Amino acid sequence: MLVLGFESSCDETGVALVEARPGQPVPALLGHGLHSQIDMHQAYGGVVPELASRDHIRRVVPLTRQVLAQAGRSLSEVDVVAFTRGPGLAGALLVGAGAACALAAALDKPVLGVHHLEGHLLSPFLSADPPEFPFVALLVSGGHTQLMQVDGVGRYTLLGETIDDAAGEAFDKSAKLLGLGYPGGPALSRLAEFGNPQAYALPRPLLHSGDLNFSFAGLKTAVLTQVRKIEGQPCYQTQADLAASTQAAIVEVLVKKALKAVDSTGLKRLVVAGGVGANAELRQQLDAACRKRGVRVHYPELHLCTDNGAMIALAAAMRLQAGVARASQDYGFDVRPRWDLEQQSA
Ligand code: KG4
Ligand code: ZN
Repeated sequence: MLVLGFESSCDETGVALVEARPGQPVPALLGHGLHSQIDMHQAYGGVVPELASRDHIRRVVPLTRQVLAQAGRSLSEVDVVAFTRGPGLAGALLVGAGAACALAAALDKPVLGVHHLEGHLLSPFLSADPPEFPFVALLVSGGHTQLMQVDGVGRYTLLGETIDDAAGEAFDKSAKLLGLGYPGGPALSRLAEFGNPQAYALPRPLLHSGDLNFSFAGLKTAVLTQVRKIEGQPCYQTQADLAASTQAAIVEVLVKKALKAVDSTGLKRLVVAGGVGANAELRQQLDAACRKRGVRVHYPELHLCTDNGAMIALAAAMRLQAGVARASQDYGFDVRPRWDLEQQSA
């Protein structure tokens, strides 16, 4: 079964082709293409939704051609067309959904809308070291910070989540306060390499709350207070110290809560997914902490941490293989800008 997948929930257009073969638990990635809109949005300091939608329209057809050529397959061989149904920017999602449904209708093939976070969650299955069910998942993206117990495809139990800002948002907003522009996470972590993580005692919100929830809004306020104090005395080292201290605060909370989730479920496997999962400091600290406890950690390949089409085609193929979803020839698509992953649970 060949599944062509479209991702267009935010500022990346992704297209990918996967093949699910009987007897093989993980579909094979045959080709994928990605266009990042970072350069376009950079001038505005963040994602401009209308520009994002228009750019997805421009990219989706050339990327599809590129992916099929890369895979050496033709459109007529595609069995199912998948797309990100949500969550994300409504206009951007509509482009991927519209393209997927129009193509499927023209090919007389079924479509399947998938949950963006399920794509992130399953993306480590495309790595050289794929996980096995069950596991705890730490989902850390620009819009979500969640801990999930994952017992199988479509079997997701929410263990905890952020009550305000997401971890990616904390990176992005702090980076903006430090004048680092968009996207903030990678920029802040690059600067943090040259700073002292203990220079500023920033808050670790909800670290000892006893539950598995997160809160990052207070951290942003604390960073703002420090930025105001150093205003007028621009110094590279001070900025790097503040960046390193901010990253240390976010990473410590993520690592401690992820370990708490592992302990409370008794599971010995942790999967980290979503854009913040690309953060080198987070990976290093999780690896060290999990090694000590005999817990295996799995990540997506670095280039599949942030948004991409491969994870969407993969999630669709795995859902179909597991029998928890059915593709349909109802092309009257709708998108879900807000959508809980637990609603996808079988
Ligand atoms: O998963 P993703 O690509 O998009 C969403 O679904 O939101 O995640 C994007 C988020 C942004 O907040 C970005 O700043 C953050 O992931 N991010 C990072 C790094 N790379 C991306 N944060 C920290 N360190 C990184 N290396
Ligand atoms: Zn994402």
